Amino acid sequence: MPSPTRLFALAALLVSATALVPPGHQGLPNQASTPDNTPAPTPDNAVIADTAGQVNQKSSAPIDAPPNADVAATTVTAVDGTVTDANTTIAAVSAGNSTRRRAVDVGRFGKRQSGFEQVFAGLPAGQHDASIEGTAYLTYTVVNNATYNVDACLAWAATIPNCVFVNLYYEFNNELLDFVFSEKSNLKCAAYGDIHSAAEKTNFGGQASYSQVGNATVPLTYITQSSGFATKNLVDPDTPEGYELVFGPTGGANNAPGYMGFAFIDKYDVDACAQLCNGRGVDPVGGSCQYFNIWRAVVSGVPTAYTCSMYYLVADESTAVNYGQGDLVVTLSRGYARRSLAIDGGFEGYTACGDFCFTVSDATWTGTSPAGGDDDATIFFFPPYARTGHGSALLGAAFGDDAHAGTLTPAAPIATVAGRQYVVQFFADSSFSGATIEATAGVEVHWNGKKVGGVTGFQTYGLVQAVVVGTGSDKLSFVGGAAPAWVFLDDVSIFAL
Ligand SMILES: *[C@@H]1O[C@H](CO)[C@@H](O)[C@H](O)[C@H]1NC(C)=O
Ligand SMILES: *[C@@H]1O[C@H](CO)[C@@H](O)[C@H](O)[C@H]1NC(C)=O
Ligand SMILES: *[C@@H]1O[C@H](CO)[C@@H](O)[C@H](O)[C@H]1NC(C)=O
Ligand SMILES: *[C@@H]1O[C@H](CO)[C@@H](O)[C@H](O)[C@H]1NC(C)=O
Repeated sequence: MPSPTRLFALAALLVSATALVPPGHQGLPNQASTPDNTPAPTPDNAVIADTAGQVNQKSSAPIDAPPNADVAATTVTAVDGTVTDANTTIAAVSAGNSTRRRAVDVGRFGKRQSGFEQVFAGLPAGQHDASIEGTAYLTYTVVNNATYNVDACLAWAATIPNCVFVNLYYEFNNELLDFVFSEKSNLKCAAYGDIHSAAEKTNFGGQASYSQVGNATVPLTYITQSSGFATKNLVDPDTPEGYELVFGPTGGANNAPGYMGFAFIDKYDVDACAQLCNGRGVDPVGGSCQYFNIWRAVVSGVPTAYTCSMYYLVADESTAVNYGQGDLVVTLSRGYARRSLAIDGGFEGYTACGDFCFTVSDATWTGTSPAGGDDDATIFFFPPYARTGHGSALLGAAFGDDAHAGTLTPAAPIATVAGRQYVVQFFADSSFSGATIEATAGVEVHWNGKKVGGVTGFQTYGLVQAVVVGTGSDKLSFVGGAAPAWVFLDDVSIFAL
């Protein structure tokens, strides 16, 4: 015997939704929710190549800075085709809360390089030479100049994380080297995070460093015996926290859908790229950045820029087919996917049929109904209900025979890092029964039983986000729906911020 509330709900159903066939009976969604068939954007490679021609990421050891300075944090030199101000930090570009540099990234000495070999020699001692002006300059030191001290330079280079190239040269008429700095040496050893060639010896000095004395001509700086030593390859980067390597290194950049934009950074720094992806605002259609492609632009044989392209769809090597254009060659291309803590967030693991079926629980998700409710949270195999693929979840009685809110929760708790911020992201569609009936539809996001976000009202698949803090083992739940104001969910992700 149905309870009075249930009878009332049934009566309400009959009045308001006589023509509706519920999802449990394979009803078709309201026709108003026509799918958005706009193709997902792909990279504008011409803009990237054009921007590579505008930025200048090349530098030498400065004449006025002391030796042994800390390696500066990676900076952003361009965003989406616009060259940024000098010294623009990653944090300044990140919109979200991902501005903390993870402790593991700082001063990482795990990847010491040895095996530097000479890649070019300096000119004979008496002749003016030039030092390297190249990308990914890190820092410099001076070594004892009693001899042309290659060994001391290379020994020092091995202590600089990510150093793969040094340029060793004498710099004359530098007042600070000659009189101020304690080392009293003019033999400079400059470290780089990328490998440079003699073609990049373009800094001939010519700067005034000595003080003016009376009307004497100030002697200008000049350089001699500028040689270069390099390792075979760049340092293999550690995979950034919260990501996994999808492919690379290859000579092809992604030309994949779901492109959100790009930034140039001043070093090949996968952690910086991950931070930019984490901090990139959401795309209204696709949601958060879920993938980045980092690659080096080599223009006419010279390393020129480090590109970080961001995507809301995960790409792979099959679309890494942009090898460059004109003088620009793509090198060291790697793809990294952001790791979601939500298991089977797309509900694609439920494959009990090949056409139409549903269940209250599968291996990764559990649906529950309150007392007196039936099938108030279910998992469907039926492509027309899904945002992507064939699976989705439904909140609200599948057969429409009660108006209770259902609860959907992962079968296993979410393994988080205590104290760490995460963003729960999913797509909700409350359009099945049309705008009038669905006006009251809603879904709440609960984190350990506490409401942390949600959405109400009629909508076709749209992004919903909630920022949460991990405790180590956390319970996520989606609570909502009230047939016939059903709510579908799809593409649930939980990303570290
Ligand atoms: C950028 O940083 C360098 C080194 O910290 C500093 O010498 C320079 O003045 C800065 N440039 C600008 C425009 O702030
Ligand atoms: C950033 O963090 C603050 C405080 O924790 C929060 O109020 C805000 O919503 C967060 N912003 C984003 C974009 O996550
Ligand atoms: C070594 O460096 C010092 C300081 O710059 C300079 O005065 C001296 O002449 C240099 N010696 C040689 C041999 O180049
Ligand atoms: C400086 O210039 C004056 C005249 O212009 C000249 O008489 C004098 O010898 C010069 N001094 C030096 C050190 O060259």
